[in-house]
Amino acid sequence: DWNMPDYIGEAIAKIQAQVGSDEVILGLSGGVDSSVVAALLHRAIGPQLTCVFVDTGLLRLNEGQMVMDMFARNLGVKVIHVDASERFMSKLAGVSDPEKKRKIIGGEFVAVFQEESAKLKNAKWLAQGTIYPDVIESAGAKTKKAHAIKSHHNVGGLPEDMHLKLLEPLRELFKDEVRELGVALGLPHEMVYRHPFPGPGLGVRILGEVKREYADLLRRADHIFIEELRAAGWYEKTSQAFAVFLPVRAVGVMGDGRTYDYVVALRAVQTQDFMTAHWAELPYSLLAKVSNRIINEIRGINRVVYDVTGKPPGTIEWE
Ligand code: XMP
Repeated sequence: DWNMPDYIGEAIAKIQAQVGSDEVILGLSGGVDSSVVAALLHRAIGPQLTCVFVDTGLLRLNEGQMVMDMFARNLGVKVIHVDASERFMSKLAGVSDPEKKRKIIGGEFVAVFQEESAKLKNAKWLAQGTIYPDVIESAGAKTKKAHAIKSHHNVGGLPEDMHLKLLEPLRELFKDEVRELGVALGLPHEMVYRHPFPGPGLGVRILGEVKREYADLLRRADHIFIEELRAAGWYEKTSQAFAVFLPVRAVGVMGDGRTYDYVVALRAVQTQDFMTAHWAELPYSLLAKVSNRIINEIRGINRVVYDVTGKPPGTIEWE
């Protein structure tokens, strides 16, 4: 049981005492945890904070713009926006194995982040959005995948040669506390209550080889799905929802013509802990609307299917 204004005051005092007049770097991803850290550190140390946002080319539609609007323009946070999409795409060319893709994306992310950080010569601290469940999980990293997840964006991403001290102001908080803190710091409800998004992003939602063309199609389909879920009041009733790109072509008809285009699968699940999950029984009318919009608005996709696989036996992601 804790009181939010007191908590914020204490957290800020603690950060100020720890950091003094040093400069701090933070990797901003658009996710809840790093966003809350950014808002908190901005309150505590203002211009001593520099955020680095890496566009991997595998993010959701307008993610970079959203981050820049929210943090750089609205709050006045210093944010370095790095478009590294070309780099990620060329490293991923010809690679279709899911775990290889994860390794490449994670490795490239660290490399880009390190290069940018190295330019900030005065920085002494690296801030991270580690939360209490991450601390517990990495203490006993059970599965290989859990470990890969955590070593990617959250815990343990601090390579020795960065010579930075680690600042983890959310280390003692559970997810719901992080969200409360975000709201109290003035972040929009919509951002603070976002569904989780995996570190490798669309890289594991494009089956097999990743191509920019596929990512561009998938981003738009995913955006339509999320927009309609929100409009129908189903976003809050699902734990995670997204589109998956299937690199196979199906035959269709459009006007007087025949089409031969790609397929998108929609996935929406309900779960408490993401270890097991039910597929969400979305209304047919909602699925119909999403399907019509995707096919009418996105040239290159002519078929939409809905995933009715639970976890187990399926995983939530398709890769
Ligand atoms: P699965 O697909 O294993 O997903 O049922 C369970 C939860 O973990 C997320 N996930 C990942 N998150 N890096 C991440 O940061 C990953 O490589 C990764 N793989 C799965 C997934 O989105 C879901 O919330």
